[in-house]
Amino acid sequence: MRKKIVAGNWKMNTTVPEGIELAKAVVAKSAETPANVGLIVAAPFTHLVSVASVLEGSKVELAAQNCADHEKGAYTGEVSVDMLKSAGCKWTILGHSERRQYYGETDEKLVTKTKLALGAGLGVILCVGENLDQREAGKHFEVVTEQVKNVLYNFTAEEMKHIVVAYEPVWAIGTGKTASAEQAEEIHACIRSVLAGKFGGQVAEDTTILYGGSCKPSNAAELFAQKDIDGGLIGGAALKADDFIQIALSY
Ligand code: PGA
Repeated sequence: MRKKIVAGNWKMNTTVPEGIELAKAVVAKSAETPANVGLIVAAPFTHLVSVASVLEGSKVELAAQNCADHEKGAYTGEVSVDMLKSAGCKWTILGHSERRQYYGETDEKLVTKTKLALGAGLGVILCVGENLDQREAGKHFEVVTEQVKNVLYNFTAEEMKHIVVAYEPVWAIGTGKTASAEQAEEIHACIRSVLAGKFGGQVAEDTTILYGGSCKPSNAAELFAQKDIDGGLIGGAALKADDFIQIALSY
């Protein structure tokens, strides 16, 4: 049985004290959420050590939002996978569309980063998704298939146990425009079949595939009811502990 996960991506929001308060509020309510739904918060680098100590002993796991594409050394301003691991992270998000769009994150770089993250014992939440032009041109299946293949076909079935895929249509991120449950489900089913093509049906069945893009308490239940949607990667709504927990309660 694949895991259900609700993950909050705080992006570049909150100061350190605000992040600690948010983490405390999430932890305080986390016990109300179903035992079979995992909770993750992806905090900014500066917050990780402090947030890790807030999360200790709770079910909420810590993620980073990115990692360096080198192991260590003279890469000023970068944060390595070993640093993340030692700060208390269990996960890192990789390939978020904002990083692909603004920071030149390519599929090739994502292969390198994913290898480093897995090597350090971190799980990876790999984001994929088409932009508005690609969707309007009817290319969404093709774009997402390519992204999944370009990155994940470089890994083994064993490594796939530590990888979660997040489908995030770029046109739905932060826009208030959610993909309909049908639009999301058909892409999730497509991702699962692309995974089956390389790793076989069992690995595809066991891989958690999250939906992200304006997911909120009012639409989470309908999205999560879909056969191939195993939870959400939540941006804006994860900045309010009540909304974040409410989303996790939608299962
Ligand atoms: P959003 O962001 O929920 O604010 O649309 C989701 C994401 O980018 O992970």
